[in-house]
Amino acid sequence: MTDRKARVAVLVSGGGTNLQAILDAQKSGAIHSGQVALVIANKADAYALERARIAGVETKTILRRDCSSQEAFEQAIAQALEEKEIDLIVLAGFMAILSRWFTDRFAGRIINVHPSLIPSFCGAGFYGLKVHEAALQKGVKVTGATVHFVNEIPDGGQIIMQKAVRVLPGDTPERLQKRVMRQAEWKILPAAVELLCAQRMKEE
Ligand code: GAR
Repeated sequence: MTDRKARVAVLVSGGGTNLQAILDAQKSGAIHSGQVALVIANKADAYALERARIAGVETKTILRRDCSSQEAFEQAIAQALEEKEIDLIVLAGFMAILSRWFTDRFAGRIINVHPSLIPSFCGAGFYGLKVHEAALQKGVKVTGATVHFVNEIPDGGQIIMQKAVRVLPGDTPERLQKRVMRQAEWKILPAAVELLCAQRMKEE
């Protein structure tokens, strides 16, 4: 055991409210076994980058279109993670599929938050608001969020945490998304980050 903290990287594409939940949990001490050392975005205008800068966290923007191939894109991300000696990689609204090459390289060290109770409304094509649109269309009365390990199958890795959220009459995809974020994602993602960082530090 050491008092070193696990080094966490958060990969983002958009607003970054889940990144914010992690940064807030770090500030409050709810996350105390790890620290966010790097935020990587694959969109230049991701507001998540601004959130990272405000928190004083190093950022890097890696755009697919600047890379000659998907492999080169993933290699650039892998190199940035390895340079910073990252222990845990968190996909928080990261809207890019990663190949088996990448997921094998960091096996057991990549997690993702998904806005449904997997195995419902997940896999290729289910991301962001589309997930909530599908849940409302199906008429489910309960939905939620899942934190899971990432492997080569989209949303197919081992489940770490889940939290259920009620669907209410008159919900729109936007209202449901907000409730799922507030009641589930922003709680279980920081909790899973602390759990895995603490485990990682115990292994040292
Ligand atoms: C979140 O709801 C996250 O669960 C979802 O995108 C949103 C990102 O919001 N991710 C997926 O759908 C991945 N399949 P944020 O940028 O405010 O954290």
